[in-house]
Amino acid sequence: MKIGIIGLGKMGEAIAKGLMGSKDYRVYFNEADAAKRKKASNRYKRIKHLEINELIGSADVVVLAVKPQDLKELLHKIKLVLKRDKLFISIAAGVSTCFIKEEGSIEKIVRAMPNMGALIGDSFTALAYSDKVLKKELNLAKKIFSVLGKVHVVEEELMDAVTALSGSGPAYFAYFLQALESSASDAGLKDISGSIVLDTMEATLKVLRKLNISTEDFIRMVKSPGGTTEACLEYWQERDLPGIVREGVNRALNRAKELNR
Ligand SMILES: NC(=O)c1ccc[n+]([C@@H]2O[C@H](COP(=O)([O-])OP(=O)(O)OC[C@H]3O[C@@H](n4cnc5c(N)ncnc54)[C@H](OP(=O)(O)O)[C@@H]3O)[C@@H](O)[C@H]2O)c1
Repeated sequence: MKIGIIGLGKMGEAIAKGLMGSKDYRVYFNEADAAKRKKASNRYKRIKHLEINELIGSADVVVLAVKPQDLKELLHKIKLVLKRDKLFISIAAGVSTCFIKEEGSIEKIVRAMPNMGALIGDSFTALAYSDKVLKKELNLAKKIFSVLGKVHVVEEELMDAVTALSGSGPAYFAYFLQALESSASDAGLKDISGSIVLDTMEATLKVLRKLNISTEDFIRMVKSPGGTTEACLEYWQERDLPGIVREGVNRALNRAKELNR
């Protein structure tokens, strides 16, 4: 199967790398930035650069991986060269299937929201689709994104919530790790501040998954009355850290809605 990726930035490259690992796909790309184009052609022997019209003509599935603000112009170019209906997958945050249909005269659109986990094949990707997408095409999109990690299908109206949680989420966790790293340094652990925090986080995730317990039960396992964990968590509770987290995510959600097209 021939997959054409337009925009070989961070996400486009992650998708290309994932697909290159499978014999099922031949990957073509189009990239506006000459330096990135050259770098990708030198680095990956299994992908080939094509002009937009060639890529649109020959690919079975086209992945749109440009920034949302560049999508409208790209859709207008596609409209001029698209000869027959084919499956398009857009990963642009906040851009609806309706917008893509109107601007690009494209009927079969799967909208995907991967996250940075895609860099190592550990993405959480949500998919939504337009009404003209057939079941076998949706299954194909699921198969394509499964090379990047886990895939879930959601109603399109939930894509903003997905963006605010799993799209932005990796940065939230990194932000929290950063704050803990700085506490580790303050406590005299400067040399090992990075690993102490990352290893602790990693162990927490592994235990939660392996024992399949709730976060609440896990906290109870760590915390003892009058102990160190309780001293910290009580302070966070008094300052309403959960409320602050909720408000932050709400703001991300509202921003996703504002950016919607
Ligand atoms: N980064 C994330 O965590 C994440 C998560 C989920 C979804 N997404 C979505 O993924 C998309 C790509 O994000 P990214 O972070 O990979 O962005 P990026 O690194 O900026 O990559 C986009 C690439 O597309 C190129 N491009 C722009 N217009 C083009 C055109 N008409 N034809 C061919 N190439 C073109 C850009 O070149 P120039 O640099 O020259 O403009 C750039 O190299 C966005 O829509 C974003 O919403 C990103």
